[in-house]
Amino acid sequence: MTTRESPRAGSPASPPPGTVAASVPFPADTAASGPDLRGRIAVVTGAAGGIGSACAERLRAAGAEVRLVDVDAEGLAALEEAGTGTAAPVDLTDLDAAAEAARGADILVNNAGVQTVAPIEDFPPERFSLILRLMLEAPFRLVQAALPHMYAQGWGRIVNISSVHGLRASAYKSAYVSAKHGLEGFSKVAAVEGAPYGVTSNCINPGYVRTPLVERQIADQARAHGIPEGEVVESVLLARSPLKRLIEPAEVAGMAAYLCGPEASYVNGASLVMDGAWSAS
Ligand SMILES: NC(=O)c1ccc[n+]([C@@H]2O[C@H](COP(=O)([O-])OP(=O)(O)OC[C@H]3O[C@@H](n4cnc5c(N)ncnc54)[C@H](O)[C@@H]3O)[C@@H](O)[C@H]2O)c1
Repeated sequence: MTTRESPRAGSPASPPPGTVAASVPFPADTAASGPDLRGRIAVVTGAAGGIGSACAERLRAAGAEVRLVDVDAEGLAALEEAGTGTAAPVDLTDLDAAAEAARGADILVNNAGVQTVAPIEDFPPERFSLILRLMLEAPFRLVQAALPHMYAQGWGRIVNISSVHGLRASAYKSAYVSAKHGLEGFSKVAAVEGAPYGVTSNCINPGYVRTPLVERQIADQARAHGIPEGEVVESVLLARSPLKRLIEPAEVAGMAAYLCGPEASYVNGASLVMDGAWSAS
């Protein structure tokens, strides 16, 4: 069953008042249900990558017009060709360009991200700055640019793809953990400011998702922990997760779609953990 929320629902602009093991797989047929997002413009950053392209496809399947934002122009072109949305190649470390990419959005999914794994004493300072710019400053500029339209129509959805690392630390990820903790705080401020205008802001906090970002860090993790690459998923990535499998990008996309639907209109300022009970244990 699909549900539909009026594109103009919410009050128009008004001033703010004050071991379950790998044997339990992800059911692949869940993408069929969800909200009806026809008439909405969704901006998805990092859309050429694992979670971003899954979110873009999921929101497109729900009827939204999707603006695909990424530095990977080739990846975007393939998605545009497949009918997922309109490619908008942007390097989001250019903060003015990032802001432009968000104008007119009804839904904004802040997803673009990178990872660097190194002990603090070896962490390149310029890499630390870049990660903060891409994963904290760019979301701020994207939200700032998107809000006037959202406020004017009294409806908007900001979905921040955070991480368990927005709530917990791991060794060797100082920049990433700092950026995600910052994003958590920013998301909550956006939730508080946006609430009177019908705009919600939430974080999704996955554990390890089966994407290129995770595949790329296996070699770094092996080096940093002094173990063979083949042991990294089990011994490092899933060491603290009672549920011993990687999350599928479509599972995260399903949560993003839920946050854009009418059942989630009171979910605001939340951090929705999808970590197989990692942070519960
Ligand atoms: N994979 C995981 O286990 C996991 C877990 C929790 C949270 N996350 C978060 O999910 C988000 C997406 O991660 P993913 O695993 O899909 O990674 P990914 O590497 O598959 O995709 C990231 C995308 O961001 C894009 N990107 C990187 N730098 C950019 C820039 N300067 N400008 C524009 N686009 C840029 C890349 O081109 C890529 O398409 C990230 O914010 C990540 O922190 C991932």
